[in-house]
Amino acid sequence: MITLSIIKADTGGFVGHTAVHPDMMAEARREIGRAIDSGLLIDGHVAACGDDLSLIMTHTYGPDADLIHSFAWDTFQATTHIAKELGLYGAGQDLLSDAFSGNLRGMGPGYAELDFDERPSEPVICFLADKTEPGAWNLPLYKMFADPFNTAGLVIDQKMHAGFAFEVYDLYDEKRIIFDCPADLYEMLMYIGAPARYVIHSVRSRTLGETAAATSTQRLSLIAGKYVGKDDPVMIVRCQSGLPAVGEVLEPFTFAYAVAGCMRGSHHAPLMPVSTEHAHPSRFDGPPRVVALGFQIHDGKLIGPRDLFADQAFDRAREQATEAMDYLRRHGPFEPHRLPLEDLEYTTMTVLTKRLADRWTPMTTELATAGTNKR
Ligand code: F6R
Ligand code: MG
Repeated sequence: MITLSIIKADTGGFVGHTAVHPDMMAEARREIGRAIDSGLLIDGHVAACGDDLSLIMTHTYGPDADLIHSFAWDTFQATTHIAKELGLYGAGQDLLSDAFSGNLRGMGPGYAELDFDERPSEPVICFLADKTEPGAWNLPLYKMFADPFNTAGLVIDQKMHAGFAFEVYDLYDEKRIIFDCPADLYEMLMYIGAPARYVIHSVRSRTLGETAAATSTQRLSLIAGKYVGKDDPVMIVRCQSGLPAVGEVLEPFTFAYAVAGCMRGSHHAPLMPVSTEHAHPSRFDGPPRVVALGFQIHDGKLIGPRDLFADQAFDRAREQATEAMDYLRRHGPFEPHRLPLEDLEYTTMTVLTKRLADRWTPMTTELATAGTNKR
């Protein structure tokens, strides 16, 4: 059994919230190198999407392991130190607690972890997104594992015909449910179509009994009780041989669908698939980005990555994202560009409600305030 873990955090932005500084990347690489040398990790790779730094690691300790989570925590402390030295923006912003206590749950960093017996050939894709939330994976996961118009294998591969089981979390009430698809398809869509609350946590093949996908499901804003940045999710998807092919896993991203996030975590904007070189959301702190890093895992080693959205076949999705961004931006502070009041990460409403309390009167009362148009 090996475990593939992606653990990520925003420990400081360069410039503003657009990227991770090269010195922080170098420090994380040094730490990963040391952890490989000491035998803690089998292998590791450091990547970034926007201002989020991801540690992609293979090891044998299983998900939620103290040793691995504390290693990631220490690495993020080290990159925070550099961010502070350089005066980078929001240094250490995702490290919500002063002391690490065994496991990263509720402490700020996000993580997706999967353990499995390595197949003779093990292709996996690590998706990293910036300026959006974990529910952003709902639509592509649905398409990969449940939509025959996306995934031909659901119809013509014997090993996929029985479908997939989706584990869905309710992030508000902290409970979960399994939907067996295709039988439960319509029930599931009622929930996962509301991605701010219901998030697909994992997907399992009903034929192979193997977990095929895992996402990070932390909602940082709820954990912290105040705004500390959108959760900027990551996801692992295993591919081929009875699971969706690499091309079926990437296909949903040819549509720049709308997600919540972007500027101040408070706007709907299109998700733009990009190469790592272009994973720097600058326009209106967006549009939100997603990168796809493909690896072959062999004896636990990460062979790769291949920067899968560098393919020009995704150019049109990028153009579509720019066009959708232009369209949505023209709404300015109006919905549906701005999120509904209850989903805003920043708000002046609490203060306004108090300040304007006296000026709101029942609609039946005659208005007496100066400046009102009396007939
Ligand atoms: C979105 C995000 C940014 C910031 C924005 C304002 O997830 O991180 O859009 O919300 O740049 O940041 P502050 O309030 O720190 O100036
Ligand atoms: Mg971010």
